[in-house]
Amino acid sequence: MKNSRIAGVGHYVPEQVVANSDLEKLMDTTDEWIVERTGIRERRYFNYKKDTCSNMATEATRMALERAKLKAEEIDLIVFATITPDYMFPGSGVLMQRELGLDKKAIAAIDIRNACSGFIYGLSIADQFIKTGMYKTIAVVGSEIQSSAMEFSDRQRHVSVIFGDGAGAAILQATDEAGKGILSTHLHSDGTFAEELYVKDPGSSRKREERLTPEMLEGVSIKAHMNGNLVFKHAVIRFMEVITEALATNRKKKEDIDLLVPHQANLRISNFIQQKLKLEEGKVYNNIQHYGNTTGASIPIALSEAWAEGKIKENDLICLAAFGSGFTWASALINW
Ligand code: UT7
Repeated sequence: MKNSRIAGVGHYVPEQVVANSDLEKLMDTTDEWIVERTGIRERRYFNYKKDTCSNMATEATRMALERAKLKAEEIDLIVFATITPDYMFPGSGVLMQRELGLDKKAIAAIDIRNACSGFIYGLSIADQFIKTGMYKTIAVVGSEIQSSAMEFSDRQRHVSVIFGDGAGAAILQATDEAGKGILSTHLHSDGTFAEELYVKDPGSSRKREERLTPEMLEGVSIKAHMNGNLVFKHAVIRFMEVITEALATNRKKKEDIDLLVPHQANLRISNFIQQKLKLEEGKVYNNIQHYGNTTGASIPIALSEAWAEGKIKENDLICLAAFGSGFTWASALINW
């Protein structure tokens, strides 16, 4: 059976840097509150003339391909994680396929909607296709444009200061080398908490005449609802569980981890995991300070930056973990 190795990682973030001080002008918040409660100092917002969910993912994929010394034509499948797609349908995967010129090859494109866990769910899906031998080279991307869905108001301040825009990508390739690449993935969900972190409207759960109403535009049902405290409490538990599960499955100890790359939800969550696992300084990668929470894009952006900074080297043991809307949570253990 083949294994999936990560041949290259890349990212793209929009140019516009939005500092906490910029948000202070738009709502009742402070740089002090945001830094203390989340660790975030700035985030990137897209330029609607230039950036789309799909073309940011394309840029990230091009970087990943270049680092992998591969050509776009070698990609057999696109797995696209996003909760902020270009259109309601079709998914952004087909748009990226077209932008990469792969429409000529008519390769498959899958969109997945597992929010903050989307990238690891995507890695797992890609890994299964490689293991069965169906595909050899797969682009897994996470891309989000959250900023245009944010409401800059006091009532939404606990949400709008957190999220940012960006995209990240990984190119997976089949290898015969035993013990190389993705060692395991673990995926979980608990729909009990679906409404604790969600956008309700304009969904299909309402009757016909209420699917989209003028009142909705004034309300918060078209905005992200997040029960922050509850999400936080579940996140720290599930992060620990799913990392422990990954280590146990592979008979590894926490000391074996060279770098833990958690979904960038809140610096306090990352610090909590670091303390609980007793991981030494430098063994947990964080860049939420600069990008905020970019949902499905946060892990691949972090991977790409960590790799570029020399913090991920050949044969390092890399652990990925995520938690988010659904609730969903997931981990991946990788021999890089
Ligand atoms: O990526 C998907 C998964 N998401 C997460 O994992 C997010 C998990 N949750 C969190 O990160 C945190 O719960 C938040 C950062 C969202 C909120 O932080 P918190 O420490 O849980 O704050 P809180 O909601 O308990 O609010 C504390 C206070 C409240 O004021 P009172 O009632 O104590 O007077 C809020 O109204 O902070 C207030 N507050 C703010 N103040 C200034 C909430 N948002 C803001 C804000 N600026 N932006």
